[in-house]
Amino acid sequence: MQIPASFHQGLSRGLPDILTIGIVKDAAGKYNPITLSWVMQTSWAPPLLVTSIAPSRHSFDAMRRSREFVIALPSESQIEATVLFGTASGRDMDKLERSGLATQPATKIDCVLLSDAIVNHECKLVDEFETGDHSIFVGEVVATHVNKDPAVRRIYAFAYTDYAAVKRDD
Ligand SMILES: Cc1cc2nc3c(=O)[nH]c(=O)nc-3n(C[C@H](O)[C@H](O)[C@H](O)COP(=O)(O)O)c2cc1C
Repeated sequence: MQIPASFHQGLSRGLPDILTIGIVKDAAGKYNPITLSWVMQTSWAPPLLVTSIAPSRHSFDAMRRSREFVIALPSESQIEATVLFGTASGRDMDKLERSGLATQPATKIDCVLLSDAIVNHECKLVDEFETGDHSIFVGEVVATHVNKDPAVRRIYAFAYTDYAAVKRDD
């Protein structure tokens, strides 16, 4: 039997959410990481990823300005940094520097990759849609890089309010 619930309650019953790190160059020239759960693939050809970002985020204006971004899937060793990137703002600090995460230059866009992530996708912004209290940014993937160690483990977040990162069981 199904019983009525709030939208939030329904979301909290869901499976763990994907956790990604978006990286966008800001107006000061700083590469700013933001934790993003609202990311998905929306096309194979061309290869497109979308992410939904609220206008209040420092990353929002940076995205509109730079029109390019990286989407990285963080690995087990990057749990603390993922929480930092999702709770502090690039308005107040250099989050990448604070995290101490290793980076390397992107190859097709002006951005950086997270060296110890599972995968990094370099994206060029091709469209934007306002949707409620967030906007969807559509990125065409122009290069993808994977960790040379295929055994590196991913992390997830439990739905909505409980965003402590968790390890995959297998
Ligand atoms: C697990 C998790 C997932 C998040 N997903 C999103 C998201 O999909 N879109 C978004 O706009 N903010 C999301 N946030 C919030 C931003 O990461 C957070 O507000 C961040 O501090 C913004 O950084 P910035 O101001 O440097 O851009 C998420 C936070 C966490 C912890």
